[in-house]
Amino acid sequence: MNNKVIIFDTTLRDGEQSLQSSLNVNNKLEIAFSLERMGIDIIEVGFPISSPGEFESVKTIAKNIKKSRICALARCLKKDIDAAYESLKFSNFYRIHIFIATSPIHIKTKLKSKLSDIICLAVNMVKYAKKYTDDIEFSCEDGGRTPINDLCYIIESVIKAGANTINIPDTVGYTLPNEYGNIIKKIMNSVINIDKAIISVHTHNDLGMATGNAISAIQYGARQVEGTINGLGERAGNCALEEVIMAIHTRKKILNLFTNINHKEIYNTSKIISKICNINIPMNKSIVGSNAFSHSSGIHQDGVLKNRENYEIMTPKFIGLNKSKLNLTSRSGRAAVKHRMKKMGYKSNEYNINKLYSLFLKFADKNGQVFDYNLEHLAFLKKKNEILNYFSLKYFNITSNLKTKSTAFIKIWCGKNLKSDISIGYGPIDALYKVIKKITLLNIKIIKYKLKFQNNNKKKISITLIYNNRKFYGIGIDYDILKSSIISIINALNNIWLSNKVKTKLKKI
Ligand code: KIV
Ligand code: ZN
Repeated sequence: MNNKVIIFDTTLRDGEQSLQSSLNVNNKLEIAFSLERMGIDIIEVGFPISSPGEFESVKTIAKNIKKSRICALARCLKKDIDAAYESLKFSNFYRIHIFIATSPIHIKTKLKSKLSDIICLAVNMVKYAKKYTDDIEFSCEDGGRTPINDLCYIIESVIKAGANTINIPDTVGYTLPNEYGNIIKKIMNSVINIDKAIISVHTHNDLGMATGNAISAIQYGARQVEGTINGLGERAGNCALEEVIMAIHTRKKILNLFTNINHKEIYNTSKIISKICNINIPMNKSIVGSNAFSHSSGIHQDGVLKNRENYEIMTPKFIGLNKSKLNLTSRSGRAAVKHRMKKMGYKSNEYNINKLYSLFLKFADKNGQVFDYNLEHLAFLKKKNEILNYFSLKYFNITSNLKTKSTAFIKIWCGKNLKSDISIGYGPIDALYKVIKKITLLNIKIIKYKLKFQNNNKKKISITLIYNNRKFYGIGIDYDILKSSIISIINALNNIWLSNKVKTKLKKI
């Protein structure tokens, strides 16, 4: 049996149908390009009959994607199959994916039909689609809850009619890995013409089993896995492809399988999709979450610094991420603090690690996370008579209305000098940002602005700025959203100011 597992991505179909608002054609094309770069074998790009916009998107993607095979979904209806063909025909190689529900509950209460009629329809529609292409996938929707003998009979019939990929969706995410694997095993052993088709699996994550089920299925002979990037999809989502791909790679000795994926593109693709779909990746998401390669506890950080493999089973580089991260918090030990200072270019004789570590612990207890520049302040600035807040807010007046641009007038203490100025901008935050930049003469760029309503009705703004290619963070909390915005920017500016002060101080030494 072939050891290659075909990776079938349905982010643009099953994933997209779960989004709060649908994607436009440019967004979809950008996602399709990223999936192609990642080496996805088959990209399911939509359900063309569902709307004219969807039809056009499938057509555009079919015209532009050259390396991955393009696929479109159709119900067991001639008009669906015609629409799939009409939108796909611009591609060099494409697949039509036909589906119908096969479980007793779906047949009885959704389709209001009977099994024999469903099989007859499925066979006829596969034959109908054959006039358009030889590459036909047939899906037994709710296959996970279809009695195994019915399933085998349907599969045998549609293969005879010309289907060459047979997909067994666990549509409602109901099965357990062992159970799902046994379904595949039974199909492999009892469907007489199964050698003429590839078994595909399509798992949903309602019980958190999607990846486990897919892995179990490939152990029993399935050779195509369907899923989405970041696990997007109906309800709890589809199987996250990055997880399956990395499980196949990381456990190759056990699984003895491979994919054609360009692993270095995994992280990038995940980021692009998260951004375009406007769905944040949970920080603890396997493989692509921001914490997936970061270590927090002192024991883990020490272990990783001694030998990465103590706590990492994959390298971040392999998926296209620069490096692992050691989060500096009050749980970190001296080893992590020393390591971070070394990474910033400081030699151990330039500072006193014992003093630094005790200041670090106090700071971390109070502030939570400790950033690089905080560590520099703690190491090199004398705390007692040092001014930590060089900039502070004295006064502001901001106007904003429907017709004209916004204006921001502001007075800021810059050390002992009170400075004021006015700027206009596209909205109050833009005007504010411009005037603060003008007053402080610091060439900053805001890259993240996050608003959170707190229980006490205060608004917390978390801001990320870039200054001299380095990230600085700031937080502002107030009832007034504009005041908290100003405080957050000023907080970040004070961090920049302290950092510049460290640099000047070190230059003098
Ligand atoms: O979950 C499912 O059953 C599906 C089919 C249309 C393949 O998405
Ligand atoms: Zn699905």
